[in-house]
Amino acid sequence: MPGDPLRAEWAAQTFLDDAVCVNRVRGMLGYTGTWKGNRVTIQGSGMGMPSLSIYANELIRDYGAKTLIRIGSCGGMQDAVKIRDIIVAMTASTLSTPSRGIFRELNYAPCADFGLLEAAVSAARKRDAGVHVGGIYSSDIFYDERPDLNEQMMRHGILGVEMEAAELYTLASRHGIRALAVLTVSDHLLTHEALPSEDRERSFGDMVEIALEAAFA
Ligand code: HPA
Repeated sequence: MPGDPLRAEWAAQTFLDDAVCVNRVRGMLGYTGTWKGNRVTIQGSGMGMPSLSIYANELIRDYGAKTLIRIGSCGGMQDAVKIRDIIVAMTASTLSTPSRGIFRELNYAPCADFGLLEAAVSAARKRDAGVHVGGIYSSDIFYDERPDLNEQMMRHGILGVEMEAAELYTLASRHGIRALAVLTVSDHLLTHEALPSEDRERSFGDMVEIALEAAFA
């Protein structure tokens, strides 16, 4: 599940055999095909947890999805995390998710599937990329007016910030399926660097391959 539906289209056309477009509603493209003989759907999630929640819920409830992997970008939050590095998210902290109404005062800890995490880390290590494994922060706000929250996340060792993984992990746990987020560092909150657009496609391709290898390991 990439955030960007056009990336779902690109990834399906680039990595899948016999890819067929299975969703165009609201432009949120989804394609089903095969990878090394395994059936796989690449479905855009849109940006933010409310959007991802719709598509993830429907993939689980209506289509019986058993493994959901987010592939996307994130902002780096530690000095050791460099632009283009890959983060495999063990946990995803968050301030609020569509699941907040269930948990209320409870601080639930959204957590990746360990088998997928292990497989993705070994797939990522085979590539010529820096790989980091640890906690990330799923924010609701891209243009964040609360820099103090980012500072607290950094102080507590959080590797990067994105906007979807915490709800993906929560939904997967609720429905007893596997989930993981594999992220490329596209910009950096400490150095203010940003990945040039021509580099984004290549690092995005790495993530697709890591996700596919992990899903069918
Ligand atoms: N913040 C939130 N989401 C992101 C960022 C960011 O800096 N970079 C990529 N996705």
